[in-house]
Amino acid sequence: MTDTPAIRQILDMNAFDASAAADAAPAVRRRLGNVGAASVLFYRDPIEMVSASGCWMTDAAGRRYLDFYNNVPSVGHSHPAVVRAVADQIARLNTNTRYVVAVVDDYLDALKARLPADLSNVVMTCSGSEANDLALRIARAVTGRQGFVVTTNAYHGNTDLVTGVSPSALKRGGLPAHVVAIAPPGATPDAEAGFLAALEAAMAELGARGFGTAAFLCDAIFSSDGIHEGPPGFLARAADLVRARGGLFIADEVQPGFGRTGAAFWGFARHGAAPDIVTMGKPMGNGFPMAAMATRPDYLAAFCADTGYFNTFGGNPVAAAAGAAVLRVIEEEALQHNASVTGQHLLAEIRALAAARPQIATVRGAGLFIGVDIGAEGAPDPDLTLRVIDAMRSRGVLIGAAGLHGATLKLRPPLCLSHAEADLFVTALDDAMGMAAARPYV
Ligand SMILES: Cc1ncc(COP(=O)(O)O)c(C=O)c1O
Repeated sequence: MTDTPAIRQILDMNAFDASAAADAAPAVRRRLGNVGAASVLFYRDPIEMVSASGCWMTDAAGRRYLDFYNNVPSVGHSHPAVVRAVADQIARLNTNTRYVVAVVDDYLDALKARLPADLSNVVMTCSGSEANDLALRIARAVTGRQGFVVTTNAYHGNTDLVTGVSPSALKRGGLPAHVVAIAPPGATPDAEAGFLAALEAAMAELGARGFGTAAFLCDAIFSSDGIHEGPPGFLARAADLVRARGGLFIADEVQPGFGRTGAAFWGFARHGAAPDIVTMGKPMGNGFPMAAMATRPDYLAAFCADTGYFNTFGGNPVAAAAGAAVLRVIEEEALQHNASVTGQHLLAEIRALAAARPQIATVRGAGLFIGVDIGAEGAPDPDLTLRVIDAMRSRGVLIGAAGLHGATLKLRPPLCLSHAEADLFVTALDDAMGMAAARPYV
């Protein structure tokens, strides 16, 4: 258990260093001038993007990159079915959310068909942060308690309340007193027992501090913690344990949801876990900003009895049209199945490469969400990780970093990734590992 901030903040990983602004390209300087200290850009030398299609992005100089990092355009960049749905709906009607519009309820019916039957109320929002903020407030209203358990390097969003449960966003100071963080599940045979013991201890600690446990909130693939698919089923036991102590289990599906892990449509479902609240976002609209929180009607009613909730844009007709198109494309193009088979192929190929590359310690993942630990076993190497990320970029492949030390390659391509594209990635990684290990900043 720890309540100190993470060693590496998630937004600082593979980020442009603003102190180097004087040497930056004019487009980068313009961005810094407009957004100031809040601008977060990838790479020491940021890329200006102009277009994208499928798994590929194109920069201002016409260079194409294989996008292995983006789970927003999850069914493929600029997917024609989503583009058409958004264009048709915005040409017909878009409005605040205080009218009955059939396309919205058609979408909610289709989404609910994918969710556990008891979570039959869905509140749409514009961002995952808003969805998690609402989830935390509902958990407090339902339980009458104030505390939360999260994982060591979790990221759940950017509101005041949600930043407090996002250790990886805190640059200084500890977590608020009402939050206790526990390590993500390890890969050893006793991983589940260790995780459950830590969860139990964290809840006891929140009790001793006088807050009690309102909820255990986790991302079921532990993405910012470095991608931990965990022993199958362990999350179900964790959820049961929290409920047995009077708290709720909130499954944050912003990362693993919508088929990414291949084995199931949701990350919690991969573990057979039953959440009390589910939040979702990023891939939901394939780039159209939309997110949601689903829970039991009595839980939502308990919150709404004391607090009004209205969201001007959340669940507008255009968002619903985008979301409906995404669900259709996942089904029609069998993208969850593709995440499973192409993900297994990719995992096997990276593991084969790891056997020949001592700089790769561990390869983990589920579906098209894979983490590759860089450094010798037990000696994470964030500098080499950055060099690999840069070397991949110079080979036309975009990846990112995650984990407590920023020494895990985070691989998360669109779900339409082909075998040929997976192979292209592995060839580039093999080459980049060799170059990055040999000399700095190739
Ligand atoms: C697991 C998780 N939850 C929530 C969020 C917040 O979503 P948003 O950026 O849409 O507010 C993120 C964003 O990266 C995330 O990774």
